[in-house]
Amino acid sequence: MKLLHLDSSVLGAYSVSRQLSSEIVAREVALHPGINVVYRDLAADPVLHLSGTHLAAWQGSVIEDPALIADLEKGGNYMEELIAADIVVIGAPMYNFSIPTQLKAWIDRVAVAGKTFRYGPNGPEGLLSKNKKVFIAASRGSIYAAGSPAASLEHHDSYLAGLLSFLGISDITVVRAEGLASSPESKEAAISQALKDIAAIVA
Ligand SMILES: Cc1cc2nc3c(=O)[nH]c(=O)nc-3n(C[C@H](O)[C@H](O)[C@H](O)COP(=O)(O)O)c2cc1C
Repeated sequence: MKLLHLDSSVLGAYSVSRQLSSEIVAREVALHPGINVVYRDLAADPVLHLSGTHLAAWQGSVIEDPALIADLEKGGNYMEELIAADIVVIGAPMYNFSIPTQLKAWIDRVAVAGKTFRYGPNGPEGLLSKNKKVFIAASRGSIYAAGSPAASLEHHDSYLAGLLSFLGISDITVVRAEGLASSPESKEAAISQALKDIAAIVA
């Protein structure tokens, strides 16, 4: 079995999403001894934003810039790692109501028509294996639960889960710690609840 672990917070050791994603990975390793873990720190080692030259390369243009060649190779590795993974764990902080741009840049390399989705007579179809399981470790400063004043600004874990579902993944679990900026007490309570949720994961 293979597990792909992604982190995207820029806050390093202070990051809540990193703490939660690593706890989920530890839980999954305990549940699946011998599972092979591939780790990507998308904040420390991001790909470039997509450009016209990237798209031209995908269409077969010859690229000579060594930096772009290396970047295209990294993006290709992202795709292979996702396709090969049985379990994907994504550390995803909320930045400006959505995900960090580094995580969006990862999505731009793996959401590719003809590879991970296609448009057919019945509309879009996800091409990733239905057997994949995804865990999203979502952290955010405020509260966006349905009915809360800021609910309509939540383009964070709902976006990420929606995108992965578009690619064909249906088994998606969100472990959420929110309200982290409200007070030290609410931060502690949110993290403590998220850690309990992780400890309760059984597969
Ligand atoms: C650049 C930046 C933008 C943020 N934008 C939001 C936001 O729009 N809404 C929110 O609730 N929290 C926001 N926050 C707070 C983070 O979501 C919160 O600190 C969370 O813990 C970040 O995850 P991390 O600890 O894994 O880095 C922002 C934080 C940063 C650094």
